[in-house]
Amino acid sequence: MNLACTERNLELNTAAKADPAFLADVLAGLSARQKTVPARWLYDHRGSELFEAITALPEYYPTRTERSILERHAKDMAQRVGRGRVVIEFGSGASTKTPLLLSAIEPEAYVPIDVSGEFLHESVQVLARSFPALPVHPVVGDFTKPLQLPRLGRSLRLGFFPGSTIGNFVAPDAVDLLRTMATTLGDAAQLLIGVDRIKEPQVLVPAYDDAAGVTARFNLNLLTRINRELGGTIPVDSFRHRAIWNDHEARIEMHLLAVHDVTFEVADRIFHMRAGETIHTENSIKYGTRDVRVLLRAGGWTPVAEWTDPQRLFSVVLAEATPPRLGP
Ligand code: SAH
Ligand code: AVI
Repeated sequence: MNLACTERNLELNTAAKADPAFLADVLAGLSARQKTVPARWLYDHRGSELFEAITALPEYYPTRTERSILERHAKDMAQRVGRGRVVIEFGSGASTKTPLLLSAIEPEAYVPIDVSGEFLHESVQVLARSFPALPVHPVVGDFTKPLQLPRLGRSLRLGFFPGSTIGNFVAPDAVDLLRTMATTLGDAAQLLIGVDRIKEPQVLVPAYDDAAGVTARFNLNLLTRINRELGGTIPVDSFRHRAIWNDHEARIEMHLLAVHDVTFEVADRIFHMRAGETIHTENSIKYGTRDVRVLLRAGGWTPVAEWTDPQRLFSVVLAEATPPRLGP
């Protein structure tokens, strides 16, 4: 067998082990008129590492701002939440803000959920060192789908959804997600959710297009992942990162722009892109204060408290599961 043939077989083997959901999303997305790939696929292990690097960038204000809100108001939050809840975190990533919450509310157990499995397990090991007595049950999976959670007893649950990850879901998907969370979390549940606020594009655009090019690497890593996991031949060097403020939709959009005409294969399907055409890889929706409350109510949650920073860049909202409605 010659070398080229062996390499081809390797590629086919790689494609054979591919996550069928990833393959289906990529093939459907690249076949659409505006090419797109859902944002959750940005998070392989490398993607999770790059996101962590983004959170430390001077331009990326959301992480440090949300952390400062949690630090400043942890006592007040704890009073409203009470002790002994089970904390279920959606999209926990490196769980770097979680210790602030766990120390304040002394929960019964902690269940971090994330699609990026290896990264989740590494993060849990780090967290467990600071909370040796806390039962921690990591769940690898897609939080938009019904998930098999570990047996958690009868303790009430607190959903924790920081980072403004809700902004990565367009309105109908965000409402579905909030409703799925309400089902997962059960009766008398609470939800502590971080939401990024609308602000000037002069602040927003650099946050998603930093001078050091980390966000560009995060975005372009998606193409590398497609090539590696789905046997793709995408010429990554022919693409550039773009971050655009779409004022009408109140969102930052991340795109990958083809700098010249390109033809490539993914899992034996051929795709063409013209120079200037893009693959839309992420929305990051920003909210006005009232918008957040409308969204939460539409998703089956009643907002009960909100905390923000002095510059009003970011909000952390506490909501309670809305009981079945009898009124008009
Ligand atoms: N909560 C952290 C990380 C936010 S990054 C913070 O506030 O900094 C978003 C995280 O959500 C990533 O770790 C990503 O892997 C995870 N994620 C994205 N979509 C997901 C999905 N559909 N199901 C589960 N996890 C998801
Ligand atoms: C995880 N999520 C809330 C981030 C955001 O700000 O929308 C992901 C991100 N994309 C580019 N930079 C950060």
